[in-house]
Amino acid sequence: MNAILEARDVSFSYPGSEHEALRGLNMHLPTGKKTAICGHNGSGKSTLFLQAVGIHKPERGAVLWNDSPIAYRPKDLKALRQHIGLVFQDPEHQLILTTPYEDISYGLRNAGMQEDDIRKRTLSMLETLNLTPLADTPIHHLSLGQKKRVALAGVMALEPELLLLDEPTAYLDRISEQKLIEALDRIHANGVTVVMATHDMNLAYAWADWMLVMDRGQCVLEGTPAEVFERKDQLLTLGLELPLLLEVWQSLPQYLQNGDAPPRSLQEFKQLMHQLQPSVSASAGHAR
Ligand SMILES: Nc1ncnc2c1ncn2[C@@H]1O[C@H](COP(=O)(O)OP(=O)(O)O)[C@@H](O)[C@H]1O
Ligand SMILES: [Mg+2]
Repeated sequence: MNAILEARDVSFSYPGSEHEALRGLNMHLPTGKKTAICGHNGSGKSTLFLQAVGIHKPERGAVLWNDSPIAYRPKDLKALRQHIGLVFQDPEHQLILTTPYEDISYGLRNAGMQEDDIRKRTLSMLETLNLTPLADTPIHHLSLGQKKRVALAGVMALEPELLLLDEPTAYLDRISEQKLIEALDRIHANGVTVVMATHDMNLAYAWADWMLVMDRGQCVLEGTPAEVFERKDQLLTLGLELPLLLEVWQSLPQYLQNGDAPPRSLQEFKQLMHQLQPSVSASAGHAR
């Protein structure tokens, strides 16, 4: 499996801290997939993202971008950050200017793009993230969900190959979360590798093609969501819960599961139950 980004034996502690935030971390992000990085608070997810864009440098080990160790000279980092976009958890850390339109175009202007192209790209990003009606609204009038989408638009406008999102759905209501996920899926469909750090296991289960589980600065589990969630006991020991839908599914009697793979969305669950209905009512009728 091709890795767009890899950590090899990466150790790192924050200045002034005795404690290692990453402890010989080995992990890779598969090219082209939607990956969820899970793990409880303090397991090192955000630190890993800061390593990925070279904001921090490993004390030991190396971070590799497409199989080459990243270099830390300013011009190399500038080039790296054209390939990797990081959306911080708190949009306030990312939004600089007064309106979505100005904020998104600022990054493009910084990258040296022509005014005509800046305008086109900004308008198209606003459209992709359903922000067109808000283009000229002062940012401090926007909801958190809207701000998160503006921050994402600003990063996406630079067309990274790898998009890292730190807790993108934290504190969002369900509708804002859905909008954000739809936007991410459109971005992924355009060929971008999309990675999110989250401790929402329901979201990871429904959304990801690939999962990494972190604990105390190491990656302790990886695989497809189906593979990861088979390790129920290990997840519980790590303080992580099972997705609600999977728990409900596993609690069903065998004849209702009907040998099907567990559904990953409520929609799939309803479909599976719907398909069963005739035979269930037939057997119920038979019993009478
Ligand atoms: N700025 C910082 N200064 C010192 N320690 C930090 C800082 N940020 C994170 N840490 C520590 O690094 C470890 C990993 O944290 P973090 O990467 O933020 O985890 P996560 O994103 O999974 O919640 C934790 O022990 C945390 O306390
Ligand atoms: Mg974090």
